[in-house]
Amino acid sequence: MEKNLLNPLDVMQECAQLALLGKGYTKTNPVVGAVVANQTEILSRGWHQSFGGPHAEVNAIDSCLVPTEGLDLYVTLEPCSHQGKTPPCVEKIVSSGIKRVFIGVVDPNPVNAGKGLEYLKKHGVEVYVGYMEDLCASIIEDFAKYITDKKHYYTFKTAQSLDGKIATSTGDSKWITSKASREYTHYMRAVSDAILVGVGTVNADDPELNVRHIKSDRDPFKIVLDPNGRMLLDRKLVKNSADKLIYVTCNDNDVSDKLNGLGADIITLGGDGQLDLNKLSDELVKRDILNVMIEGGGKTTGKFFDAGLVDKVNMFIAPILLGGDTVSIAGKGVASVAEGYRLKEIQTKQFESDLYISGKVTDFKQPILDLTEYVRGCCACGCSRDDD
Ligand SMILES: NC(=O)c1ccc[n+]([C@@H]2O[C@H](COP(=O)([O-])OP(=O)(O)OC[C@H]3O[C@@H](n4cnc5c(N)ncnc54)[C@H](OP(=O)(O)O)[C@@H]3O)[C@@H](O)[C@H]2O)c1
Repeated sequence: MEKNLLNPLDVMQECAQLALLGKGYTKTNPVVGAVVANQTEILSRGWHQSFGGPHAEVNAIDSCLVPTEGLDLYVTLEPCSHQGKTPPCVEKIVSSGIKRVFIGVVDPNPVNAGKGLEYLKKHGVEVYVGYMEDLCASIIEDFAKYITDKKHYYTFKTAQSLDGKIATSTGDSKWITSKASREYTHYMRAVSDAILVGVGTVNADDPELNVRHIKSDRDPFKIVLDPNGRMLLDRKLVKNSADKLIYVTCNDNDVSDKLNGLGADIITLGGDGQLDLNKLSDELVKRDILNVMIEGGGKTTGKFFDAGLVDKVNMFIAPILLGGDTVSIAGKGVASVAEGYRLKEIQTKQFESDLYISGKVTDFKQPILDLTEYVRGCCACGCSRDDD
């Protein structure tokens, strides 16, 4: 029976799923997925599994059980052309005899952008770019921001009522959203380098900020903003995970001294009761923390919005009304509707009876390269239909 030709868009979607298996393990490298295929079937798969380890392309090529001469390689990100912790992937691709390379997105890393494509083309490999480009760009957005701006990526996550409240007037907040929503939140935590909250939330809720509702061995850092040293020391974050705690305050105080003794990382930013969030960003980048999820409360979140630092929003909205004034996003807010943060690239889902809306606040721009020499489009026939 004749087999169907592979659709490169479907194959690239599989590569993107493979890439996500590495999320949380590869910093400060991007997540990447790759497969080796002939025209009708995928023959091997690979993804970048850990920082300093072999890249996705190498894993896919090395795990292919048949000779790779004349085969196709699909990869979410432009292969690297420079020596890093591992040799350049483009050399491996050329020496393995791969005939065609299908690429999701150009590397935002200025060291490599376009050079990987050039090398492959120069060495006789057919190169096709732009397959599921948006998807492939979205899975490396934290890396892209870090590598171009040396800033990390802030995602704001909230579990709120239909009227935008995250607790009742007495401070009760458990649980506004469904079990399914909470489980999904734990997946988000698992792919974050750190979870950030204000001292109000730590003192009121005694959260653990760990990953427990899903199977994962990830344990992100827990960042607490406490300018005035009022965090209670009997909290679970102190008792169970002081070694994963990053405590941010204005000046040394009793709490920071005690936490320092317990192995917490202390960041003192100076100032008088106000934390400079741009300075905090610089400190987190120094620690290779690229992907931070802000989990509230409203005052803390408001300060990040006011500082223009939030990149993405993940909102779980439960069909319940709470009233009161414990809002999801406090702060100054914007002056006019026109200045509001209108989300882009919206995704919606339903978790039990909760609505989930996610969208981007900031735009990341891919490198602008002249790609006319490379075939872009939906398939390898060169028809250049760009429909992803
Ligand atoms: N449903 C949910 O998903 C959810 C999630 C989190 C929290 N909550 C609820 O939210 C409530 C707590 O929220 P909240 O807004 O009162 O407290 P919060 O945001 O957790 O903490 C606010 C405090 O953090 C400090 N802070 C944060 N950012 C700062 C900055 N840039 N500069 C200076 N100080 C900064 C300030 O401390 P000082 O006061 O010392 O200046 C501020 O008052 C609780 O009732 C909790 O249950 C609900």
